[in-house]
Order: sequence, then structure tokens, then C-alpha cells
Amino acid sequence: MIKTLLSPFKRFAWFKRLNAKITYEWLAKHIPANDWHFMNYGYFPTADEPVPVFQTQPLQHYPLQMYHHLASKADLANKVVLEVGSGRGGGALHLAGYFKPKQYTGMDLAQHAVDLANKLHHLPNLKFIQGSAENIPLADNSVDVVVNVESCHAYGSVKKFLSEVKRVLKPGGYFLMVDFRYAQDMPELNQLLAESGLTMKLEENITSRVVMAIEAEDEAKQKSIRDLVPPKWQKLFAEFAGVVGSKFYRNLQDGTRFYYRYVMTKN
Ligand SMILES: C[S@@+](CC[C@H](N)C(=O)[O-])C[C@H]1O[C@@H](n2cnc3c(N)ncnc32)[C@H](O)[C@@H]1O
Repeated sequence: MIKTLLSPFKRFAWFKRLNAKITYEWLAKHIPANDWHFMNYGYFPTADEPVPVFQTQPLQHYPLQMYHHLASKADLANKVVLEVGSGRGGGALHLAGYFKPKQYTGMDLAQHAVDLANKLHHLPNLKFIQGSAENIPLADNSVDVVVNVESCHAYGSVKKFLSEVKRVLKPGGYFLMVDFRYAQDMPELNQLLAESGLTMKLEENITSRVVMAIEAEDEAKQKSIRDLVPPKWQKLFAEFAGVVGSKFYRNLQDGTRFYYRYVMTKN
């Protein structure tokens, strides 16, 4: 009912911004579970993508792989890295520890998510700050790699975000992004990327690998929802979390939505 009432507004930039802010502030404030570190749907690596053994719980294994195999597309060692939309910070913790950048800054719109990430994750080269993708609080030409995981679908203006990415990246810098879109919105995203002034190095449809990840962690995810989420919110949360059978899962399977990985550079 609420979803139907809100759906006419979903195309408006102001609604997207408000929706993202309210949703992710609420989640970090009301479900501050210390062992829930990721909010992406996960990635099931292909046979030729080596999977290092990580100390993760089953629920976090595939979302961590999403970060790991995206970051593997650039060299992060000793680099200045900015993650836009770092959420609860699990991906930032992994990349900052494993790939050893000089500095890794996780930035998120939701202050509660930033506070939670700063409370949970501690490494000398890692920090979390509050800020908007559409107005990044960093200097021009100051970042080597921008990481963006399943976040830009929520922005009011992806065009503004991409112009900010280009502004903060140093020449030669990398933009690493994964996200989903409805099939009918893919041409708009592709056009925005093509007109961003960045150069496309890799564009990869990873939808089937996300479906496999959702299936592989479904049992653990369903259990976690039962354990962590108040009963009256469990159905809604299961939809949001994209369990097997949810609308998101069915959309990925039937070609209504796609999930893509992009690697771009600034000349
Ligand atoms: C689906 S979550 C993904 C979080 C994290 N990347 C992960 O994979 O665990 C999307 C995140 O993007 C953040 N976000 C949404 N709009 C944003 C904006 N305009 N600027 C920065 N972060 C934003 C949300 O607060 C949320 O933490």
C-alpha cells in the first residue's frame, strides 16, 4: 500500500535523496548489529577469479567478494582511495586492510552509518566521513581511486555525482563502480557514463553472478533476518534484502533488472 502510494515520486531527484537518507539513517540507527557489515547483494566469483580465504561469516562472504573483485581491477597499494556510499563500512575495512592503500576514506550520506562504521572498524589508514556523492567534500585532483558499490541508483543526480568523481580524481585515476538498474533505465545510465568525460575500460554484466550469490547465502540471510529484525518488519526487510523469491531476485532472473560492473579512468 505505502509502496504504491510512493511510486509516482520515485523518479524525482528530491525524493530519491530523501528516501536514501531516511532509509539508511534508520537502518544504522535501529539495527546497529555489530556483525552486519555489508549492504550489497553479493557477487559469486567466476572459476578464474581467485578467492582468498577471508575471516567472514557466511552472510558476508559474497558481499565481500563484490568489493574484492571490483577493487582487483585497479592497483590500490599506497594510493589515496575514496569510497562513496560506504554504508556500514565492511567493504572499506576489507579493502583498506587487504590492498593496503595509503589512505582509505569511506564517505556516506547517512551520519548514523558513518558513526557505526567509525565505531566498528579501526585501521590506521581508514576513516569514515559524512558527505554527499553530489557534493564531495574533497579537493580537485586529490584521489587515485574512487570506489562505488551499489549506491548510485539512490542518488538524486548521477550526472552530478560523475562530475564530482571526475573533479576529485587525479589524472590517471580509476573509478570502480557496481550497481543495478531496471532494464529501461540502462540506456540513461550508459549515456551518463559515456558523457562523464571518463574513459570506459571495462563494462561487464554481472547479473547472473549476483543471482548466484543471493542463492548461495539465502539460508544464512533468512536466519539473520529472523534473528535481528522485529517480526512486524521481517517481510518488508526480506524484500529489501533481496532474499530468494523477492521482487529484486525475480527481476534479476527475468531480465527486468541488470547488475553491472564498470571500470573507468580519468585521462
Ligand atoms: C545499498 S547501500 C550499500 C552500502 C555499501 N556500499 C555496501 O555495499 O555495503 C547504499 C549506500 O549508499 C549511501 N548513499 C545513498 N545516497 C548517497 C549519497 N547521495 N551520497 C553518499 N552516500 C549515499 C546510503 O546511505 C547507503 O549506505
